[in-house]
Amino acid sequence: MHQDMKEVLFTKEQIHNKVKELGKKITEDYKDKDLMLICILKGSFIFMSDLCKEIDLPLTLDFMAVSSYGNSTQSSGVVRIIKDLEENIEGKHILIIEDIIDTGLTLSYLINNLKSRGSKSIKICTLLDKPERRKSQVKPDYLGFTIPDKFVVGYGLDYAEKYRNLPFISVLKEDIYKKTP
Ligand code: IMP
Ligand code: MG
Repeated sequence: MHQDMKEVLFTKEQIHNKVKELGKKITEDYKDKDLMLICILKGSFIFMSDLCKEIDLPLTLDFMAVSSYGNSTQSSGVVRIIKDLEENIEGKHILIIEDIIDTGLTLSYLINNLKSRGSKSIKICTLLDKPERRKSQVKPDYLGFTIPDKFVVGYGLDYAEKYRNLPFISVLKEDIYKKTP
């Protein structure tokens, strides 16, 4: 384990099995539907690339980048679109791929924004859910794991842009983010 980590929550194998399970469910649910995956960068890039391979359907995909955190571990509640979609979502069934839902502020903003663009449906698939800190009523339609109120990194998730490449999901040692002003 990496020296900055306190404990591993989910190993590479556990994540892999969960992603396969989610892919199977999504494949069944979206059969004969025009499915488009929207990956919310950067945190979801690994989840998206693994998950889309487990969905056995002729789908399309696109990427969107938003910012809500800066380098802190607390949500500012302010969401900014840094990169918008390139594809038209009109008439498509949209599945938003997220790494983690925490306060829910990012997703509720995004859903409202996407709703005005004429898609047929919008659903949420998140790898992790931290329901204890919810400030906005958003519920995932597809969920990997529910976790306690701890700051986690790895498998795409970062702290100050670091640790995204760790193949497992783990709790970051508190002194790592407490010493940063
Ligand atoms: P929300 O708006 O509070 O739901 O924030 C969601 C975003 O905050 C996620 O997409 C992550 O980028 C980030 N985030 C929330 N909790 C964590 C965490 O424990 N580790 C890393 N990033 C997190
Ligand atoms: Mg994110």
